Amino acid sequence: MSIGKMLSPAAIGVAVAGLLAITPVRAQESVKIGLILPMTGGQASTGKQIDNAIKLYMQQNGDTVAGKKIEVILKDDGALPDNTKRLAQELIVNDKVSFIAGFGVTPAALAAAPLATQGKIPEIVMAAGTSIITERSPYIVRTSFTLAQSSTIIGDWAVKNGIKKVATLTSDYAPGNDALASFKEHFTAGGGEIVEEVKVPLANPDFAPFLQRMKDAKPDAMFVFVPAGQGGNFMKQYAERGLDKSGIKVIGPGDVMDDDLLNGMGDAALGAVTAHIYSAAHPSQINKDFVAAYKKAYGSRPGFMAVSGYDGIHLIYEALKKTGGKTDGDALIEAMKGMKWESPRGPISIDPETRDIVQNVYIRKVEKVAGELYNVEFQTFEAVKDSGKTKK
Ligand code: PHB
Repeated sequence: MSIGKMLSPAAIGVAVAGLLAITPVRAQESVKIGLILPMTGGQASTGKQIDNAIKLYMQQNGDTVAGKKIEVILKDDGALPDNTKRLAQELIVNDKVSFIAGFGVTPAALAAAPLATQGKIPEIVMAAGTSIITERSPYIVRTSFTLAQSSTIIGDWAVKNGIKKVATLTSDYAPGNDALASFKEHFTAGGGEIVEEVKVPLANPDFAPFLQRMKDAKPDAMFVFVPAGQGGNFMKQYAERGLDKSGIKVIGPGDVMDDDLLNGMGDAALGAVTAHIYSAAHPSQINKDFVAAYKKAYGSRPGFMAVSGYDGIHLIYEALKKTGGKTDGDALIEAMKGMKWESPRGPISIDPETRDIVQNVYIRKVEKVAGELYNVEFQTFEAVKDSGKTKK
């Protein structure tokens, strides 16, 4: 006898509702990404840019990939590696994330590397720039940059452009040392001379005493590496000490001229020549759209950290598409190797051998465009690989 003959239509309705309540429609499976960034402290602008860019990408591309819902769990490590390590551990063990991502500074990226290896979890480095990072775990893939990529190129450019004496000012930790070593090698090989060399502390640096030494050394230019977020303060002190009036040009990798802060630096920044991976003024249509969407969403200009985060989440999406939503770490890393795409910064790819990013490096000069300061690109070096690893 059928149920219909035994029960009234109303009773059937109640029975069906009851069945639905005890066997709920299976929740869509999710893929979790543990995003560890400095959202507070001296490196907070890096965290803000990357977090903004990831949110923008997910708004533009949806939050479902290969049938899986993407869930980003953001944790603030304040750029302190002990925090990074603890947070990475919690994310892997408790939250069961399939990726760890972010890493605003080199010590943070290095602190998480053994956990990525142990857990076979891809670690997507979206900010840190020391060459050795990708060698610390076969599960690390980088979408940011290395300091060697840009510092070698500005070293060659300086000697070819009549700069004979340079004073260097670099942040005293691994990426600063990479920047200095790469620059020096190329600049001195071409006949350039280093007349003063200072290293400044990473945390809350006061540049003033060092800037006096730079001025006294009377160089043609000063080579500067400070991490994203510190360029504004550096350029303020540079102008206050009158180095712009002394005709000492700023050159370096582009971190000091980060688009996030550039427009607030004032005219002292005009004429600074840096080699870097991204300018908000990069003239492609993809970049114009990216800058417009970022500005609309956040009221500010994206910098190179934003673009590194935007590409990092793209890499995760594309890898998941390739694995059909499977989160096996080895399969995801294989999927990422050799991937190529057009980023707002230009064409980029993941080197299948090193898992590091291969990208164009542009030489740019700070100019005023429609009343705003921009890094205007004037020379392009295509598909530059990291050259720093083999030296270590
Ligand atoms: C780094 O710590 O590796 C780092 C941070 C910010 C930069 C560059 C490198 O702008």
